[in-house]
Amino acid sequence: MGTAEASGIDSRLDETVAAIRAKVNMQPRVGVVLGSGLGAFADTLGHLVKLPYATIPHMPASTVVGHAGNLCFGTIDHVNVVCMQGRAHAYEGYPMWQVVHGVRTMARLGVDCVLITNAAGGIEATWSAGDLMIVTDHLNFMPTHPLTGPNEEALGTRFPDMTNAYDRDLRGMLGEVARREGIATRQGVYAAMPGPSFETPAEIRMLRALGAQAVGMSTVPEVIALRHMRTRALALSCITNMAAGMGQGELSHEHVEQIANARQADLERLVRGFILAVAQT
Ligand code: HPA
Repeated sequence: MGTAEASGIDSRLDETVAAIRAKVNMQPRVGVVLGSGLGAFADTLGHLVKLPYATIPHMPASTVVGHAGNLCFGTIDHVNVVCMQGRAHAYEGYPMWQVVHGVRTMARLGVDCVLITNAAGGIEATWSAGDLMIVTDHLNFMPTHPLTGPNEEALGTRFPDMTNAYDRDLRGMLGEVARREGIATRQGVYAAMPGPSFETPAEIRMLRALGAQAVGMSTVPEVIALRHMRTRALALSCITNMAAGMGQGELSHEHVEQIANARQADLERLVRGFILAVAQT
């Protein structure tokens, strides 16, 4: 994104947050981004208030089927939560500042941490569709970066550290919740590709050789933007399909949504347990 687009982010965030605060009087403790086919969690919140993205200044409307496009405020037990029900992706044509505007808004609202979910293709031969993966690290192959342009000093430093981008303590907490709930989880590196075409089998072989266990088209810009603001981030992938060339047949978004929907119940238990665990710290 050009420099002109990158500047003014801080004042846009102020406008977004002011518009939200005029409608919602609550201080969220935890932020959650709900990916493809995983949006139903937001509807389980108590005291739910839904703000369609279209009613919030600067929030991009999601154009992807299965992404509702609401900023949802509510409670899990006594814990205040803000959820993005659907997200914008770079492949939709949005500039990167807008792709990450939602998570920056959550950070500016003062959340303690953000749990990001996504649908992803599995690269590890022994895995199967339906597996859940706690992201340990990423490989970024997106052609544009959310921090390109003049650095917004009000948000963070020019060269943010990514050593612990997927917060180790939060990963431990989510792993503990999974064990307690009896839900099996994998761990691995998430490779972010630009999309919107799925990868080729050759690209998947490349990603495997480079050390990736999963591949998707989101999450990484959001995590970078959150680390820039020093808000803790964590990501959970629903492996909706084995990556290109690894399974039988063609890949489709419909299949991705179908598998994500089938894992919705376990995902909800994990997210719920995670939120309650964070609130106890
Ligand atoms: N590749 C990229 N993104 C994805 C995939 C995939 O195989 N599955 C779900 N999102």
